[in-house]
Amino acid sequence: MNILVTGGAGFIGTHTLIELYRAGHAATVVDNLSNSNPVALQRVAEILEVGEIPFHQTDIRDREGLERIFASQHFDACIHFAGLKAVGESVEKPWEYYENNIGGTLVLIDVMRRHGCKNIIFSSSATVYGDPAEIPITERCPKGQCTNPYGWTKSMLEQVLMDIRRADAEWKVVLLRYFNPVGAHPSGRIGENPNGIPNNLMPYITQTAIGKRKELGVFGNDYPTPDGTGVRDYIHVCDLAAAHVSALQCFEPTFRHGVDGAHIYNIGTGHGYSVLDMVNAFMRVNGVNVPYSIKPRRAGDIATCYCDPGKARAELGWQARLGLDDMVRDSWRWQSMNPEGY
Ligand code: NAD
Ligand code: WQD
Repeated sequence: MNILVTGGAGFIGTHTLIELYRAGHAATVVDNLSNSNPVALQRVAEILEVGEIPFHQTDIRDREGLERIFASQHFDACIHFAGLKAVGESVEKPWEYYENNIGGTLVLIDVMRRHGCKNIIFSSSATVYGDPAEIPITERCPKGQCTNPYGWTKSMLEQVLMDIRRADAEWKVVLLRYFNPVGAHPSGRIGENPNGIPNNLMPYITQTAIGKRKELGVFGNDYPTPDGTGVRDYIHVCDLAAAHVSALQCFEPTFRHGVDGAHIYNIGTGHGYSVLDMVNAFMRVNGVNVPYSIKPRRAGDIATCYCDPGKARAELGWQARLGLDDMVRDSWRWQSMNPEGY
């Protein structure tokens, strides 16, 4: 297939490009580089041993820019990663998050339909379940209250896409609800490159291990979990990337699952690991120290979040193959080979 990848210069997008090319698909990237570096796309091309990845530095809110790209070639589907994703920043700047994530997606899907491209894979998140009503979380679990504007953009965009599909039977919509992506490509050439102080656990661990941060704060050890620290479903970014290639099946006329063109999948491993499990695995596998101390709980955090990934396995034939040791090893290889990022 010929795929438009919005946000393709970012963390998950770059890893997905590798899986798409290796599976024989063609891809064109649209990214405004607001949270990424063009060097990442050069490295993807080097890993794939192709001249370059077709790339437009275009904002998805730029209707004319998107019109030109869609007029120049036909796309069979769009994998839509573009969006702002910092939870804390979204609390400070809600307008910017709603305008970028929701406004941008509305422009994108309007241009898509005008050019007869009505197949989309959307990057959703476990955050749409709020404080989940059941563990492990299945796709039947009701959506919940999000604790920040970022989460609401995901929840609202799921609704927007489902309503558009309901009104026009030609649309096929895949919502992939990612759990906690970590790790990096085993080459150590591409990985997560956060701006400033990381919010997420794994980049905080790697930056502490390399000495950029003094110590990791563990946010709470009084949760109702085996060791008192928060439990999450960490998934290697290469497994997550492969899930997008598997999800392209949903657009084949022979695909028998889903209702009226709607396909929702949890993308996780199904295993829950605590903060201390992650820190201890990181130190054991990599032989480096990660100083940490216990801090108060972080506002908005939940105790436990992991999924039942059985639906993606049964319908898409996809399952995570990489384990905790791969995740912590590859995260460290990326950090230690690129101490300042790209
Ligand atoms: P990322 O920030 O590395 O990648 C997102 C890319 O989108 C960046 O390259 C950025 O420059 C681009 N972008 C942002 N706004 C844009 C716009 N208006 N026009 C064009 N490009 C724009 O983030 P990521 O971790 O790769 O996440 C990809 C997607 O997956 C995001 O939608 C994110 O919300 C979602 N997601 C991420 C996680 C996670 O923990 N990383 C979890 C669940 C869902
Ligand atoms: C994981 C665990 C923290 C940092 C967030 C978003 C979610 C999704 C993924 C996009 C928790 C603990 C963390 C630290 C810590 N993103 N922690 N010290 O909160 O599960 O999910 O990223 O959709 O929407 O909310 O991930 O990596 O921030 O935290 O103790 O310095 O690590 O309390 O238990 P989270 P996280």
